[in-house]
Amino acid sequence: MWIKKRSGAKVWLLLLVLLLVQDGRCIKWLGLGRTSDTHTWTREACTSAKSAGLLERKQARACRAAPDVMPALVQAAKDTSTVCQQAFRHRRWNCSSIERAPDYTPELLTGTREQAFVYAMSAAAAVWRLARGCALGSLAACSCATPPRREPPSPSALISPSSFTTMSVSFDTLSVRNSFKWGGCGDDVRSASRMAKRFLQGATPPGTGGTAKFMHAVNMHNNRAGRRAVEQSLTLECKCHGVSGSCSVRTCWRGLGASGPSVAGSRLLRRYATAAEVRLRSGGRLPPLYHHDNLLYTTKSPDYCLPDMKRGSLGTIGRQCNGSSSGYEGCEYLCCGRGHVTRTEQIYERCDCKYISCCYVKCKTCSRIVKTYECN
Ligand SMILES: *[C@@H]1O[C@H](CO)[C@@H](O)[C@H](O)[C@H]1NC(C)=O
Ligand SMILES: *[C@@H]1O[C@H](CO)[C@@H](O)[C@H](O)[C@H]1NC(C)=O
Repeated sequence: MWIKKRSGAKVWLLLLVLLLVQDGRCIKWLGLGRTSDTHTWTREACTSAKSAGLLERKQARACRAAPDVMPALVQAAKDTSTVCQQAFRHRRWNCSSIERAPDYTPELLTGTREQAFVYAMSAAAAVWRLARGCALGSLAACSCATPPRREPPSPSALISPSSFTTMSVSFDTLSVRNSFKWGGCGDDVRSASRMAKRFLQGATPPGTGGTAKFMHAVNMHNNRAGRRAVEQSLTLECKCHGVSGSCSVRTCWRGLGASGPSVAGSRLLRRYATAAEVRLRSGGRLPPLYHHDNLLYTTKSPDYCLPDMKRGSLGTIGRQCNGSSSGYEGCEYLCCGRGHVTRTEQIYERCDCKYISCCYVKCKTCSRIVKTYECN
């Protein structure tokens, strides 16, 4: 009886610590992703987003001071969710819990590797969307990037097949000197990064709690890793001018390309795989030996095989798996050795369609056997 009581007290203490320390303050804004695209950001809207728990006090103040950045951040919240769920769709942890923002499940509050990815990705998406907003002229605080002061590092590799096309070439591949001019509208990642940092950086937790300070330092480190991933995604983009494809005149700028924040997402997914565990040290500061680009975590993740609400594991029971793959999505790994059920289904669809005359197409009905696999 006595022992029971004690363990009950322990659970309460743990809960209290969870509530006080690991409240995921700095990713609550991801809940903004459910806001409609046409939402108008007035001062009142900023205040009610704060009341809804989506914005911190400081963030709400920033929102009221510069409401024009909010659509970019709403988009960034959507991107974070999309990119994360796409990146992890075949894994045991598939990022579906991000949809619960701002009421996260424990795996996104306790300093896991998954939390590190989400913090980094949210910062990356914010920088990306803000930089795009700068270049599109929709933000008052910034516009196009000022071109680099140094001479263009010019490449014969940049010869484009046709004039007036935009192409991307990684900066590293440029070697041969061949003239072009800086021009166009570069993505102002530096300003965007500064803006994102100001918005996402929560205040250091009050009091002397070393654990809270440490967790905060880790979260902010992962945020910075995310912002850096965008800076590293800049490529040289050029437009060719000149008589019929001669490309005799070329203007180039450093841009983020058209494919969106998922580029930074792939970079961060690689960093997720090599994330480093850090331990609390006195003073709550991070040990200095970690590179800025590393993702850091403080708590080992559960294996996500079985439901465990206390740790934020949904389990993989009922998940679709792939019967012939030996990767993450393969039944062997995804179902954690519990086995799977195979279902065969006959589906009917239109096929062999023939065009008869205007507005009339004749089709046959074909059937096809489809096998689906589901984890036990
Ligand atoms: C993600 O995992 C959860 C829990 O296992 C499951 O309910 C959900 O259907 C999965 N989502 C996708 C897109 O596979
Ligand atoms: C299953 O995995 C195999 C091998 O990796 C792949 O070729 C196939 O397209 C996958 N099937 C599905 C339905 O994803």
